[in-house]
Amino acid sequence: MKATDILMSEHRVIEQVIAALEMAANGLEHGVDVRPGFFGDVADFIKGFADGCHHKKEEGVLFVAMSESGVPVQGGPIGMMLYEHEQGRLYTRRMREAAANLSDDPSAREAVLENAFGYASLLKQHILKEDRILFPMADRFIPPAEQEAVAEGFERLEHDETGAGVHEKYLALAAALTQESARYTV
Ligand SMILES: [Fe+2]
Repeated sequence: MKATDILMSEHRVIEQVIAALEMAANGLEHGVDVRPGFFGDVADFIKGFADGCHHKKEEGVLFVAMSESGVPVQGGPIGMMLYEHEQGRLYTRRMREAAANLSDDPSAREAVLENAFGYASLLKQHILKEDRILFPMADRFIPPAEQEAVAEGFERLEHDETGAGVHEKYLALAAALTQESARYTV
């Protein structure tokens, strides 16, 4: 599979979890009894899959290949993507912290909602920009032979850093979160 196609297929899984997160946050906002651990589990997925498997491939392999092919890192679209990855990590950390206090701190609910919705809207537009602007740019700038090396770099990263079976574990978590979120429909 082409390097950017691999990343786009991961975007579809991330979008699935974002939809589940929005469903649960919407339920919480409207008085539905959402399991507090749900938000922690979403944070685990984001940390392990969106940041662990996916953003590492972008930051550590694709963006590097793009910059070596002449796309500027600072100030350009890559710099913007890196900044948004950082913002996403901040939302995730705050959502996890607030969710841990959901049962005994009344202000925690607002903080969970703010960071859950903040993450969802950030990531949706971030993914759209990557799919429509950044990845087509990568396809144009990175020479075909180098494209193959990028895909191999992704595989190496999954094998060496992420570990065998981890990707599958997160796919199963995404499916479980989607199924659970259906209970939180308002
Ligand atoms: Fe991405």
